[in-house]
Amino acid sequence: MKAPSNPVYSSIDTTDLAQAAKLIQSIAGGPKPAVGGIKLGLEFFLAHGAPGVRYAFPVPVRATGVGFFLDLKLHDIPNTVAGGIRAVVELAPTYITIHASGGREMMKAAVEEAGAQAARLNVPRPKLLGVTVLTSLDRSDLEATGIDADPSDQVLRLAALAQESGLDGAICSPHEIVALRKKCGPAFVLMVPGIRPVGSAADDQKRAMTPRQAVDLGASHLVVGRPIYQAADPRAAAEAIAREAGVNDL
Ligand code: C5P
Repeated sequence: MKAPSNPVYSSIDTTDLAQAAKLIQSIAGGPKPAVGGIKLGLEFFLAHGAPGVRYAFPVPVRATGVGFFLDLKLHDIPNTVAGGIRAVVELAPTYITIHASGGREMMKAAVEEAGAQAARLNVPRPKLLGVTVLTSLDRSDLEATGIDADPSDQVLRLAALAQESGLDGAICSPHEIVALRKKCGPAFVLMVPGIRPVGSAADDQKRAMTPRQAVDLGASHLVVGRPIYQAADPRAAAEAIAREAGVNDL
């Protein structure tokens, strides 16, 4: 798929509500956001829930058109995952993650509920993204869970299952972009963490790529955390990363 006008999603990994609100306002606030979207995940959501999202990422900021990636990595029986989706659709997330290893029925139930609840509330249907194999797992970790496969093969298998089950895309490491783009076609969302701007510290990302490399290989979205939210000037850092990713109208 063609990369969106600004493919950069900034993850805000903190439990400090005031700090999150300030960061989001500075990088996603108007008149033009410096990023394509904001990612809030387990750390923030478990600490502050829906009221925290409404406080830190309020409607006026959303009105700039900036996206919202709610990275919950849901994994449970189909009925429970559908209930979780139902509970968060009112926040109008652009993307929600679920584990593809939860299986076909779980993913189908999530897709169905996302559509049904969005229609009930008259909000856009959130797109669902599959988490395949966590990058923290290697072949021997998979084997210990009873899966006798190379992680890269398992990633492809789970991404294909996610697509068949109606998901809109997957989370993938920079090194999986080419194979997944080939397997899942041009319209499949590939949301890619492990991105580091030219000349920055890798932190604990062992095999990071630059924004330009990831977009050129076929990433549709890039997730960038510390290089933005730990920068002395997060807005300037976000803009520089967006430019590296090919955005030229900031
Ligand atoms: O600070 P950094 O840019 O490394 O943050 C990347 C974000 O992407 C974090 O929110 C992290 O949880 C997430 N992520 C990742 N690697 C994965 C999957 C998700 O870094 N394999």
